[in-house]
Amino acid sequence: MTTATPSTATSMREPTLGTMGLGGVLDLFKGGKLPVDPATAIDRVFGPAGDRGALVISGASGIVGAGKTMQLGARLAPYGVPVVALDFPNAPDGIGQQYAGLEAAFGREGASRIMSNVIRLTYDGKSLPRELKELKPKFLLEAIPEILEVKKAHYALFRESFPDIQIRSVTSGFPMKELGVGVAHPAFPHEINKMWEIVEDEPSDITHMLWALGMVPVRVSDDWSFVLDVLFCGVTLAGLRYHHASNMPFWKIDKYVRRLVGPNPFRAHDAIGAAGADFLTWSCLHHLSNVYGAVFTPTPELDERKDTGQNWYPPNHFRPLVDWKITAEEQEVLDTWVLGPLFQMTSLMLHEHRAHLTNMNMIGELCAQFRSGILALARKLGQERVVQIVEAYHRLHPEAADSAWYPDAYSDMGDPAWQQLYVNAETDGTVGVVTISRESYNSDVDLELNRALDWLKAKGVARVILTSDFHLSTQMVGADTSEFWPALESVEAGMHVAGGWSRTARRLAEEFEVSVGFVAGKRALGGMFELLSHCHYLIAHEGASLGFPEVRVPVVPGMEGCHWTFRKSAKEDWPKILGALLTGQAVKAPAAVGWWLDYAGPMDEALKTAWSVASGGEHGLGCRGVETGALQGVPTDVANLPEADSPATEATRQAIVACVQASSGAPLAEALDVQARLSSEFLAGPIARKGSVGQEYAKTVRI
Ligand SMILES: NC(=O)c1ccc[n+]([C@@H]2O[C@H](COP(=O)([O-])OP(=O)(O)OC[C@H]3O[C@@H](n4cnc5c(N)ncnc54)[C@H](O)[C@@H]3O)[C@@H](O)[C@H]2O)c1
Repeated sequence: MTTATPSTATSMREPTLGTMGLGGVLDLFKGGKLPVDPATAIDRVFGPAGDRGALVISGASGIVGAGKTMQLGARLAPYGVPVVALDFPNAPDGIGQQYAGLEAAFGREGASRIMSNVIRLTYDGKSLPRELKELKPKFLLEAIPEILEVKKAHYALFRESFPDIQIRSVTSGFPMKELGVGVAHPAFPHEINKMWEIVEDEPSDITHMLWALGMVPVRVSDDWSFVLDVLFCGVTLAGLRYHHASNMPFWKIDKYVRRLVGPNPFRAHDAIGAAGADFLTWSCLHHLSNVYGAVFTPTPELDERKDTGQNWYPPNHFRPLVDWKITAEEQEVLDTWVLGPLFQMTSLMLHEHRAHLTNMNMIGELCAQFRSGILALARKLGQERVVQIVEAYHRLHPEAADSAWYPDAYSDMGDPAWQQLYVNAETDGTVGVVTISRESYNSDVDLELNRALDWLKAKGVARVILTSDFHLSTQMVGADTSEFWPALESVEAGMHVAGGWSRTARRLAEEFEVSVGFVAGKRALGGMFELLSHCHYLIAHEGASLGFPEVRVPVVPGMEGCHWTFRKSAKEDWPKILGALLTGQAVKAPAAVGWWLDYAGPMDEALKTAWSVASGGEHGLGCRGVETGALQGVPTDVANLPEADSPATEATRQAIVACVQASSGAPLAEALDVQARLSSEFLAGPIARKGSVGQEYAKTVRI
C-alpha cells in the first residue's frame, strides 16, 4: 500500500507516523522521500489522471459537509478530482456561506477555480441523482445527521448503485461496528481544522491520501465517541454537573474551566451552533452512558437543550455587575467536579487502548482547546494524585463510581510512551532523529527533548537530526506563550524559562558531533526557529518560511535569537537578520540560504541532503561556525524599516535592538544569560503585560 518498509531503527516509543502504516521518521530521511506522495495517493483512491472518479460529500450543505467541501475541494482541484456536493434541495446554503473564507484564502480566481470543480447536486434522499453515475463516485464522505438508521439506509442506497464505493462517516460517535463503514471524524472548525479521527481495520489509501494532502489523520479505536468527543463532551458534562450542584452560571463556569484546563465548553457550543452541537453532545453522552454508565449520563439541563438548541450564554453576553469570587474551598470542589470525571473517562480510554498516547494527548490540544493534553496533565500530577481526585469526585457523585473507572490505567506513567508524549527519538545506531509532535515549545517539550538527547547519547549516538514529527506538528510556531505567564510577574521566573530552554538548545551545538535542524512543515518561527538554529546545519524544504514574529506579540526573543544567528552568518547578512527581528516578517526558505539556512530545496532533495550531512555522506555544504567572541559592528538600525504601527511596537523594537547589542556584544559564554535576562525584564515590564501575552493571562488566570 505504501513505500514504507518495516523500520530497522529503534525508538524511544513508536512514532505516531507508524500508527498509519507510514513507517518511522528516520526511515523517511534514510529513504530520501516521503512514504506516499499526493499524486500516488490520489491515483489509488480516485483512479489515474484522465480517468478520475469523484468524491461525493453527502450532507454538503451542513456544518461539516460545507467545511469539508471547501477543505477537500481546495486540495483535490489541482488533481482534477471532481467533488460532488449532495444534499436536499431545501437545505440552507452552507457552501455559499463558506465562499468568503475560500476567497480570502485563495483569492477570487483561486476560489472560482476550486468552486468550478464542485458539482452541486440535490435529490430526495431516496433515489440518487442520475448524473452521479457519469462522475464515477469512488469515495463517499457521509456528513448527514447523527441518526444511526438514517446513515445506514444512506450507505445501502449508495452501495446499491456503486457496490465498490469507499465510504467514511464523519459521525461524532457511532463506532464502525454499528455503522458498517469506516469513520473519518473531523474536528471543528471544519474548513480549517486538519485533524481527523480515523477508525478502520487497517490504515487505508484514504488515510494515506489525507496525510499526503497535508492533513492530520489520527487512528483511534472502534469505541463509542472515539477520543475527541469523550474529552469535549466530557468536559462539557463536567461543567454541567458543577452547574447542577452549585447553580453557577454557565459563562462563569467556562472561565474557571478555561483557567484549569483550557477549553470553554459552553462558549464552544454556542460558537459551533448550539442547535446542532447540544444535540451532538447529548447524543455522544447518551450512547456512552448506555455502554459505560453514570459518569457519562447527561444532566437534565442537557436533556432539555438537545431539543431546544438554546444558547448557553445569555444574549449579548450579558453579565451581572457583581461577579462574586469563589473561595479556595469552593475552588477545590469545582476543580474536583471538572478533573475527576475527565481523569475517570481518560482511564477508560487508556484501558481500551483507544489511541497511541501521543495521539490521545494531542487530540485534546489540537481540537478541544486543552492547554496541556489530558495525559500530560495527569503525568504532571502523578498516579496517586489523579486517583485521589477521581475518588474525591466519587464522593460528590457516587453513581459515577460504579463503572468505567480504571485507576491502574495510570500505573505505567514511567513508561516511554507516557514520558515521551511530545518528543520521540529514533536511531539506526549511528544517526539519531529527534521529532517534536507539538507546534509550540513548552516546558513538557523541553523536558522530553532533554530526555531524548540523553537517550541518544547513552547509546553513543553523536549525529542527530532535529525536526517535527511529519504528522501532528504540521508547523513549528514558536514558544507556547502560556508558559510566559509567571514571567509577567517575576523576572526570575522568566530567567528560569528563557535560560533553561536556551541551555537545552545549546546542547544541540555542543554535545553532538553533527546536528542538523530540519524544517519539514510550513514554518519554523520564534522559539522553534531559535531551537533549530542551534544545530550545526539548518535545512528546510523550499515551501517553508522562517522568522521571528516576537516583535508583534510583543516579546523579546528569549532563546538566543538576538545573537545566535548573527554569530553564524557573515557581517553583510546582519542587516537582514536585524530587519527580520524588527519587522517580524518571515523569510521564505530559498531566500534564507547562506545566512539562516544551509540548504533549501524540494522535500525529497532536502531529506536526502539532511541524511547525507547527518550520516557523514557527501553533501557539499560548508559548516557555518558560531563566533564565540564579542561581535563588532552589529547594526543598531535598518535602512527602510517600515514605521512602527504603535508606540508599543516602537518600544519593543528598541528593546530588541538593545538585546541584540548586549548579547552579541558579549562573548558566547556570557551571552545566554544576557539574552535571558533582557527578554525576561521585557516580559515583566509594562509593554508585554499590555500586549497579547498579558491580555491572555489576565483573561485566563486573573479572573
Ligand atoms: N457539527 C459538528 O461540529 C460536527 C463535528 C464532527 C462530526 N459531526 C457529525 O457530522 C454529521 C453532520 O453533522 P452537522 O453538524 O454537519 O449537521 P447539519 O445538520 O449541519 O448538516 C447535515 C446536512 O445533511 C443533510 N442531509 C440530511 N439527510 C441527508 C441525506 N439523506 N442525504 C444528503 N443530505 C442529507 C441536511 O440537509 C444538512 O444539510 C453528524 O454525523 C455529526 O455527528 C458534526
